[in-house]
Amino acid sequence: MTAGPAGLWFGGDYNPEQWDPATWADDDTLLHEARVNTATVGVFSWALLEPEEGRYDFGWLDDTLDRLHRGGVRVVLATPTASPPPWFTLAHPDAMPVTREGTRLWHGSRDTYCVAAPAYRQAARRIAGELARRYAGHPALALWHVHNEYGTVCWCDHAAGAFRAWLRRRYGAGRDGLGAVNDAWGTAFWSQRYSDWEQVLPPRATQWLANPSQMLDYRRFWSDELLAAFCEQRDEIRRHAPPVPVTTNLVLPDGYQVLDAWAWSREADLVAVDHYLGSPGPDGHADIAFCGDRARSWGGGRPWILMEQATSLIYQPDRILAKEPGRMLRDSIGYLARGSDSVLFFQWRASPAGAEMFHAAMVPHAGPDSRVFREVTELGQVVERLGEVAGSTVRAEAAVVWDPDSLWVLENRHFTSADLAYLDEVRAGHGGLWRAGVISDFVRQDGDLSGYRLVLAPALCLISDEGTRVLREYVAGGGHLVMSFFSGMLDSRHHARLGGTPGGLREVFGIRVEEFCPLPAGATVALSGGEGWEGGGGLAVGTVWSERLSAEGAQIVARYADRPLAGLPAVTRHAFGLGHAWYVSTRLGQAAQDRLISRVLAGAGVQPVVPGAPAGLEIVRRHGDGGLSWLFILNHTTSPAQVPASGTELLSGRQVTGLLDVAPGELAVVRENAPIA
Ligand code: GAL
Repeated sequence: MTAGPAGLWFGGDYNPEQWDPATWADDDTLLHEARVNTATVGVFSWALLEPEEGRYDFGWLDDTLDRLHRGGVRVVLATPTASPPPWFTLAHPDAMPVTREGTRLWHGSRDTYCVAAPAYRQAARRIAGELARRYAGHPALALWHVHNEYGTVCWCDHAAGAFRAWLRRRYGAGRDGLGAVNDAWGTAFWSQRYSDWEQVLPPRATQWLANPSQMLDYRRFWSDELLAAFCEQRDEIRRHAPPVPVTTNLVLPDGYQVLDAWAWSREADLVAVDHYLGSPGPDGHADIAFCGDRARSWGGGRPWILMEQATSLIYQPDRILAKEPGRMLRDSIGYLARGSDSVLFFQWRASPAGAEMFHAAMVPHAGPDSRVFREVTELGQVVERLGEVAGSTVRAEAAVVWDPDSLWVLENRHFTSADLAYLDEVRAGHGGLWRAGVISDFVRQDGDLSGYRLVLAPALCLISDEGTRVLREYVAGGGHLVMSFFSGMLDSRHHARLGGTPGGLREVFGIRVEEFCPLPAGATVALSGGEGWEGGGGLAVGTVWSERLSAEGAQIVARYADRPLAGLPAVTRHAFGLGHAWYVSTRLGQAAQDRLISRVLAGAGVQPVVPGAPAGLEIVRRHGDGGLSWLFILNHTTSPAQVPASGTELLSGRQVTGLLDVAPGELAVVRENAPIA
């Protein structure tokens, strides 16, 4: 049980320290008006809470928690360690982060620390412990939010020392361990052999190409180092009763993937994510599904928390993107559909000053007399009406492999074509299932695949020995596996698997890839349809990549039609054991990919959530206890749509029998009559 009202959580980051008491009174009124029931407090408040080392000022936070509690608002209490105060910088200059090039950064932004610096770790544990001691029993407290968006990477000497300690744990200490590092990193190449542990460094800026095995190990190490820092704070907090769940907010935008979310999700009591759209329009809708399916899967299918999104203007160095009217509501329901138990924002009130002053908020600079605040209050009512879905879950028969190792390998862009990025390929695979109306989970390459009829493995360049075993057994046992190009050529050490790809899975796919043939930027390669491939007859086209492969038992589904690969297989299918393994050696255009996916889905017996529903609708079912279920329907199209559904539509309270009309851009949530087994 946690504090606060039952149902879904609605609200966001609340930073009263940026405002005066008159505004707090106004907040109380507006929070109530918007039906906000959750506030995340204290995220960047370290300088106020500990104005000098060891001296604490909790008065304003006491008042804030008490005031929120009186208003019926539950509190998500953050530890403020993502933004050390200026006194910390001066006292511990060695704890400031150092870039790959060796530049030590100064105070003046946030996240100015090296997580491997002992002084930082100690100060972070201390403030977390002080907060826990003071607020553990506060009646408003519902969730601990450690830090904010762990991710800052450092290359300093503290980081180097911690890296060596991590390597000793992984490969062994002493000379044998160092020998194992030399082997794993392939240091016979370019005279990189280490003869003493002190010579081993992070992959700092160097003259030309760096060692890829070392780079991959540094990514793995850094995720573990950040995780250790999280766990230290979590454990400080857990020492105090009564127990309240502890989490941290994982951050999802593409350029920021430095955590192994599988490992992190095991350590947090629940998964919380921040999601800011990368693009508007249909890509944005698919992106929300991509976010929600990952968050749910990382937590093993349990409900998760959307900790941050934007009401409108996303104002970040790489993009400025405003949401059109109605979009915030539809996006928010999109997250709920995929298993979130919350709709939370950054932030309640737009800051009057500071680096993010123009970022959207629930109460904009214009004040409550604004489109955004009116839509926020409308959303608050909707979330309240949907409260009964809290705790319910989403089921999937299809899955997509999410593999941090392959993601980090492909960051090394000189190994691939400029157009080949891991996230693009995973997004494309997931997007194909999304367009087909099929719900998919994400899975580890060596995870439990037994519950899925179909698994997609896009650009899975690194496959461990265990992953090889799991994928092989999955197909042998009757699974349908679709793997795309640039897969299976590396082992866990980032060494080549010899003899052709996909490594240890050649027998499963019944193929052998002997050569990669990346396509120049913008170039295409024509494919001629094998039998059953085109349906309508025309040619499909591949982009980004092609491969010279031979079928060794596989059926050829499509061939390359252009030189130099003309006549050779491009897409293959192989019956192996009780299952089937498909290999796609180029990036198919969307139409061709959709045809292929529908053929694979049919073969695997995987259905959309509502078979026969019109295209362009997003439909997800959440399942509750006792056979209860809710159908979420989002009409992303510009046409009215009819969807087979029966039950009570929760937003309008209407009874639906047989068919539900959903207007363009509108949404509906139906508590279904018939319990779903
Ligand atoms: C998040 C962060 C927030 C705020 C927001 C702006 O990544 O957690 O503190 O900076 O971005 O989009």
